Amino acid sequence: MKLVFASNNKNKIQEIRHQLPSEIELLSLEDIGCTEEIPETAYTIEGNAILKANYVTEKYGYNCFADDTGLEVDALNGAPGVYSARYAGEAKDANANMDKLLTELAGNKNRKANFKTVIALNLNGQQHLFTGIVNGTITTEKAGDKGFGYDPLFKPEGLEVTFAQISLDQKAQLGHRGRAVKQLIDFLKK
Ligand code: IMP
Repeated sequence: MKLVFASNNKNKIQEIRHQLPSEIELLSLEDIGCTEEIPETAYTIEGNAILKANYVTEKYGYNCFADDTGLEVDALNGAPGVYSARYAGEAKDANANMDKLLTELAGNKNRKANFKTVIALNLNGQQHLFTGIVNGTITTEKAGDKGFGYDPLFKPEGLEVTFAQISLDQKAQLGHRGRAVKQLIDFLKK
């Protein structure tokens, strides 16, 4: 069976391809000739994952899954959430995003936050959603140089270091994306 992952992120594709049963052939957007930018105009993380998966299924006719991730901060009523990538502007600059977050939370004692990944899967006419969540806190300064995005500011529950201070393997195991992907893989294996 052919299954499209609505992404061109080679790292994500390789990681997931590696875990799928061999009868599933995983295709990227490039593989199916989808070169246009898929609109991500929904107001929720779930909504964007669904938009992307539906775009491919409706326009190209494939079974498909898509993911979307955001950082939800309690004291900011869930912001930056679905706008995590462009929190400080269209440049999608990770440092500027982190600086803005630190400014917004300056002096605030409530540092609770969570990362959430939603995967929407369109399979044989049915849609399934898988959600991976990691709870944690926002630190008061950046720490670590691994990972990407908001990792230097996010300390997951149960660890005394940020996501940017742990190995890729460790993050894949206890991270939000890893948790959502595991549910998807378990479902596809059934
Ligand atoms: P995407 O949906 O995977 O493209 O993620 C949207 C945005 O959320 C990214 O541009 C990052 O700012 C942030 N983000 C997503 N995943 C992570 C992560 O694992 N660590 C830190 N930031 C992340």
